Amino acid sequence: MTGPFNPSPAKPSDGLCWVTGASSGIGEKLVERLVRQGWRVAVTARSEDKLKALEAALPGQVFAAPADISDPDAVRQAVARIEAEQGPIARAILNAGIYLSIDAANPDFEDYAKTFAVNLNGTAACLCAITPLMVERGAGQIAIVSSATAFGGMPTASAYGASKAALVNMAECYRIELHRYGVLVQAITPGFVETPAQDDNEFPKPFMVSADTAAGRIVSGLKSKRFEITFPRRFTWMLKAIYALPRDWHINLVRKQTGWNKPPS
Ligand SMILES: NC(=O)c1ccc[n+]([C@@H]2O[C@H](COP(=O)([O-])OP(=O)(O)OC[C@H]3O[C@@H](n4cnc5c(N)ncnc54)[C@H](OP(=O)(O)O)[C@@H]3O)[C@@H](O)[C@H]2O)c1
Repeated sequence: MTGPFNPSPAKPSDGLCWVTGASSGIGEKLVERLVRQGWRVAVTARSEDKLKALEAALPGQVFAAPADISDPDAVRQAVARIEAEQGPIARAILNAGIYLSIDAANPDFEDYAKTFAVNLNGTAACLCAITPLMVERGAGQIAIVSSATAFGGMPTASAYGASKAALVNMAECYRIELHRYGVLVQAITPGFVETPAQDDNEFPKPFMVSADTAAGRIVSGLKSKRFEITFPRRFTWMLKAIYALPRDWHINLVRKQTGWNKPPS
């Protein structure tokens, strides 16, 4: 039984699943899988047309609640509308995020500001909107989509990686604090997933999985109580082992493996 000190995975009979970043990539595939599992899903992103198309394709099962998550008022209003019109959100998958590559030799502050505004502040805005409602009900499940980039430094990822590492830390804090209120908190740390976000990324992408495979791993992980849902494990566990080495060792190893040990071309 879900309750204080015993948070459990939410079920479709408990209410809706809210997915942010549902207009594309992993989020869009998550919606399809969740609906197949019997969930009614509220979908948020900026592209209202894409969300409306999802709603039209899955009538009665998908509810479009467009919002820019970097605007906390818009997020609060979207959550209030979902709950007023469709019922309580039992599970929130905070998946919206952006990747902007940063050249550390010539960094652009705007790229940091944009990344943190969406990945970090946007996720915080979602947490601020949904957490008090779940705490008041004494039940709920929140999953924050981070990335394997959170494990340690990677070239060109100084904004993205920092935002995703912060999200794992944020998820841990929420996990520690919300346990006594019956709210389950999890972090998702995928390796490379084939989505539009990867289109402009020319980096090697070992062990990349499809967005549908990623969605499958996420929905099955969400049925468990474990803190971290990570995949593909042959890649993310190897990364964890590398980052467990002393920092100078793993920094040299990552530099070598990614080609950043050569002079700039
Ligand atoms: N692809 C990978 O290899 C990979 C690996 C690890 C983790 N991840 C994480 O997985 C999540 C999904 O990424 P993806 O690969 O599926 O990328 P994607 O296809 O580009 O999808 C990103 C989603 O986030 C939404 N979004 C972006 N900015 C937003 C904003 N300000 N407000 C509301 N929604 C916003 C986008 O919708 P709109 O543009 O319509 O707003 C879109 O639905 C991200 O958090 C990403 O960091 C991805």
